[in-house]
Amino acid sequence: MNKKIALLPGDGIGPEVVAEARRVLDAVADRFGCEIHFVEGLIGGIAMDRTGSPFPPETIELCLRSDAILLGAVGGPRWDDPSAKLRPEQGLLRLRKELGLFANLRPVRVHPALAASSPLRAELLEGVDLLVVRELTSGIYFGERGRRNDSNDEQAYDTMIYSVSEIENIVRLAARLARSRRGKLTSVDKANVLEVSRLWRTTADRILKDEFPDIDAEHLLVDAASMHLIQRPADFDVVVTGNLFGDILTDEASVLAGSMGLLPSASVGESGPGLYEPIHGSAPDIAGCSIANPIGMILSAAMMCAESLRWPEAASCIESAVDHVIRSGARTLDIRRKGEPVVGTTEMGGRIADAAKSIDVATSAA
Ligand code: IPM
Ligand code: MG
Repeated sequence: MNKKIALLPGDGIGPEVVAEARRVLDAVADRFGCEIHFVEGLIGGIAMDRTGSPFPPETIELCLRSDAILLGAVGGPRWDDPSAKLRPEQGLLRLRKELGLFANLRPVRVHPALAASSPLRAELLEGVDLLVVRELTSGIYFGERGRRNDSNDEQAYDTMIYSVSEIENIVRLAARLARSRRGKLTSVDKANVLEVSRLWRTTADRILKDEFPDIDAEHLLVDAASMHLIQRPADFDVVVTGNLFGDILTDEASVLAGSMGLLPSASVGESGPGLYEPIHGSAPDIAGCSIANPIGMILSAAMMCAESLRWPEAASCIESAVDHVIRSGARTLDIRRKGEPVVGTTEMGGRIADAAKSIDVATSAA
């Protein structure tokens, strides 16, 4: 096997965590006798500084020529001026849109050895294994927006918009995933207030009744869902929702796992390369300190192996290596409990790469 991966490190801690994911992938490629060819591209703030655009044409070309894309993070205080025309985040949104990556899969599992790192009581976390399917290329992120004057009072507006076919596509994908898991699906909206959500709910209902009668489906309002996620997280299997609600609920859900730094994601479309990125941001406050947790990025690389490279052995190998290193007690600052020693970003990545070289894949999974 010979695969080409676009590496888009981006801003803040992005380059630090991407370097560790690359190291782990190199270890796995070596072990299984495969070739992975990495090519770096620019995105976000660093791309604005070097080329004037957060998503230069060379980057889209590189992505289209690749089998998959690994992305670190974008954004930072240097580019945060609210009156600026260009923002690093536009690079990421354009990448998602131009590649048609309409589904963002964000799995949340709680490693038993890390339950104490979560602010929730351990008994609530037992059995938590959920997957948020976030719609990624529409909704309020991509609706019409602007400023206008109303009797000399300036207004700003963003439009939340979904079409029936967009809702059908994401609900179908989520229901198929539910079928391959525990058969439960929760659709989240705000149908008591928003017209968009009423279309979402009736469309989801129809698809689920007509095509997925075997799935145990429920609807939740987003405010209630945010509460249930921390009151009864183990009850959720697959959660499907729109772009904005998915963004918010996954930051909340990451707390279940102990740290946002642990959570991976995969963004996929009908065809073409998938995009793999941790759910955390660029964390400018700790950038350059080599203390960031690379596990969310490394597990994103595992999702890439499974989804885009159709290479399940590599995915299991990486997951087992992460599991092993967590069990052995290695802790970055974000998941460390009082009194425990801390390992840095490169040390954590190095230990996972070492484990990936030799770990017994069949028997070591959690
Ligand atoms: C995420 C991030 C992005 C989003 C930002 C960086 C644009 O928060 O991937 O969750 O809102 O989608
Ligand atoms: Mg987010």
